[in-house]
Amino acid sequence: MSMEKYCSKAAKAGEVYYLAHIHDEWNNPEVRRLNANEILYPPCQEVRDAISAQLEHLNYYPEDASTDVELRSKLADYVGLPGKADWFTIGNGSMEVIDMLYKAFIDPGDEILIAMPEYSPYARRSKMFLAKAVDVMPIDDDFNYDVNAYQSKVTDKTKMIVVSRPNNPDGHIVSRELVEELCKNDCIVVVDEAYVEFSQDPIEDMLEAHPNMIITHTFSKAMGLAAVRLGFAIANPELIGFINQIRMPTNVNVLARAAAIALLDNPQYIAENTAKIIADRQFLYDAVKEMPGLRPIPSHSNFVMIDCKDCKHTATEINKYLREHNYATRLFANSRGLPGDRFFRITIGTHEDMVAVIDLMKEYLA
Ligand SMILES: Cc1ncc(COP(=O)(O)O)c(C=O)c1O
Repeated sequence: MSMEKYCSKAAKAGEVYYLAHIHDEWNNPEVRRLNANEILYPPCQEVRDAISAQLEHLNYYPEDASTDVELRSKLADYVGLPGKADWFTIGNGSMEVIDMLYKAFIDPGDEILIAMPEYSPYARRSKMFLAKAVDVMPIDDDFNYDVNAYQSKVTDKTKMIVVSRPNNPDGHIVSRELVEELCKNDCIVVVDEAYVEFSQDPIEDMLEAHPNMIITHTFSKAMGLAAVRLGFAIANPELIGFINQIRMPTNVNVLARAAAIALLDNPQYIAENTAKIIADRQFLYDAVKEMPGLRPIPSHSNFVMIDCKDCKHTATEINKYLREHNYATRLFANSRGLPGDRFFRITIGTHEDMVAVIDLMKEYLA
């Protein structure tokens, strides 16, 4: 007997998010992980000590975000909004924060504008919440967007506009002025700042003037704590209140909280890694630019996407060659917004990783 009759509409509209690339890496420790935009620098000693100190308390529930002023205050200091702890809530990674945004603001039939190519959970969640993801298309080959690309898609059903700033997977960044214009619409504007440290162009200062704007952040990228799963949202306290109304209590565990506090107390660790990654992004970009047939896309993030359109090899072939030499990069062959077998993305690892990847690509293209 089929069990399908028990399946909710949301589950029917959903699909398993199969993370084969992450599985591959956990099972092949020799592989250098250049495909999920993690950083390749290990956690600082302060974070390790803070996690160890919590091992004594694993029998207790964690402090919940509703009462945890300490963590929210440190987050507020980190993003330059001191004293505004009530503008923050937290999630089990920013993926959970995204899920909470859909629960708090999206009803069936709503439309959500998302720039293509996209970070896929937004479109997936739109489908699952029986809403419609509306594609916003770039105006040139470097994945730039103008206000009209967005505004021409706004209807009276538009409930949310998502701006990943910088965007994953291409690394483009839209201007503050564009976000400012989008905020004039009668809808929620989500600015996903997962990679903001690498762009060094945060727009938290715009929040106060725009009560419909929400910024999301993650500890998985520049903060170097992808494994502990911690993300946060910033918005005016009324919107944060709606998110907290659907948030599960104690959704962030004791180890993540301790690691986050220790890291926020050591911002120089984040700054040092970020500076190295920005320098190595330029190093990779300059080298790829000289390779026959390859076009690196200008990036404001910790990765560079490469267009192989004019190359004698496909993106699949180059990606495969690198993987055979233990460098896992991310292939975007024939994916949404990225037609053809043209694109792959390299996360900026250590300087040695970048030297090795450049040498391998040169060798393969020769
Ligand atoms: C644009 C963007 N937002 C959010 C996330 C998710 O981050 P987290 O690990 O906090 O769930 C990612 C991860 O790759 C991302 O690229």
